[in-house]
Amino acid sequence: MTLMAQDSATRPVPDGAEPVVRVSGLSKAFRRADGTIANAVDDVSIDVRSGEFLVLLGPSGCGKTTLLRIIAGLERADAGSVSLRGQEVFSASRGIDLPPERRRLSMIFQSYALWPHMTAYDNIAYPLRNARPRPGRATVDRRVREVLEMVGTPELARQYPNQMSGGQQQRIALARAIVGGDDLVLFDEPLSNVDAKVREQLRLELLSMQRELGFAAVYVTHDQTEAMELAHRIAVMGQGSVRQLADPATIYRRPVSRYVANFVGTSNELTGTVTRHDDRTTTLSTDLGEVTGVRADLAVGTEAVALFRPERTRLGDTAGDNAWPVTVTAVLFLGAHTETLAKAGEQSFRLLGDHDVAQGESATVTVRAEDVLILPT
Ligand SMILES: Nc1ncnc2c1ncn2[C@@H]1O[C@H](COP(=O)(O)OP(=O)(O)OP(=O)(O)O)[C@@H](O)[C@H]1O
Ligand SMILES: [Mg+2]
Repeated sequence: MTLMAQDSATRPVPDGAEPVVRVSGLSKAFRRADGTIANAVDDVSIDVRSGEFLVLLGPSGCGKTTLLRIIAGLERADAGSVSLRGQEVFSASRGIDLPPERRRLSMIFQSYALWPHMTAYDNIAYPLRNARPRPGRATVDRRVREVLEMVGTPELARQYPNQMSGGQQQRIALARAIVGGDDLVLFDEPLSNVDAKVREQLRLELLSMQRELGFAAVYVTHDQTEAMELAHRIAVMGQGSVRQLADPATIYRRPVSRYVANFVGTSNELTGTVTRHDDRTTTLSTDLGEVTGVRADLAVGTEAVALFRPERTRLGDTAGDNAWPVTVTAVLFLGAHTETLAKAGEQSFRLLGDHDVAQGESATVTVRAEDVLILPT
């Protein structure tokens, strides 16, 4: 569990000279059955560095799978280019499109991860037996047993997929993905069919295996916890485009928009109008009076939203730059932590932690200006 406690902010992104993946100006539109157009991928540019774990995070339908399939060569983009290890494998303008088997990468899908008619052993051996040049029988055997050992399931060699649990199947799928020693592995929500406990464990194992073997990963998920835990960097996607690409701590603490902020956690939000800027702060006028936050690049008079995380929001007399009288509406005991809900008129607040108040009591919500982000609405 030590891996989980690691602060991603302090985990440096590997810095290779040549990115393993360079995606540039990629766009892909689909025509739906009713004739309307879905802009699945809309002008996306991303570099993935050698050994980097990059997570594509976004809601259903935002284009994550399509982007991954374009990188793998399973889907053809309308515009843009894809380079792998400095070599252009796709270019819409130059008419280049290398087939998947020549891109030297592995891909793990959410479902149908394994060939059902093959044992675990044969599933893992499959990429090796189809590689060119094809390694000898003894080499294949050695490699398969090595990775079976590595994913911790040597006893499953002779099992068929329908004789394994979901978690075991994912382990075998992972073994198959890494057996060829590719320096790039693409994951499309590989853990979504596995129950929560196993998912957590597989995540940690995947993380340590990735760090040990050093392959670059592009990992699709819509689970923010998964993204935070695995990623060197997260690309938050919305409607086909990348809204923010940064390390997990920056995404959480300094989201560039309300969309990104809401995708990676809950926040308290007060909407209003920008009234003034000071040296380091920006002030909004809202229904609850003034809110002061970190200085934002927004013109006076602009509609904006002040946004602050529940764990940064306090209750009581503690001095804060912002303070509002509230009534406590609920105190929710959730086991590991307690949440307190409060209201001032129509405005509700969510706070993390036990604040020693009861439902119905009056209190004061406070938050420091440095913990408040002012963002466009
Ligand atoms: N073959 C297709 N034909 C038409 N539309 C498609 C096709 N594939 C994807 N789309 C559309 O493109 C958009 C992006 O789809 P995509 O599968 O990439 O989303 P996603 O982010 O992977 O979603 P999810 O999290 O649900 O897997 C969606 O609006 C989808 O309906
Ligand atoms: Mg998908």
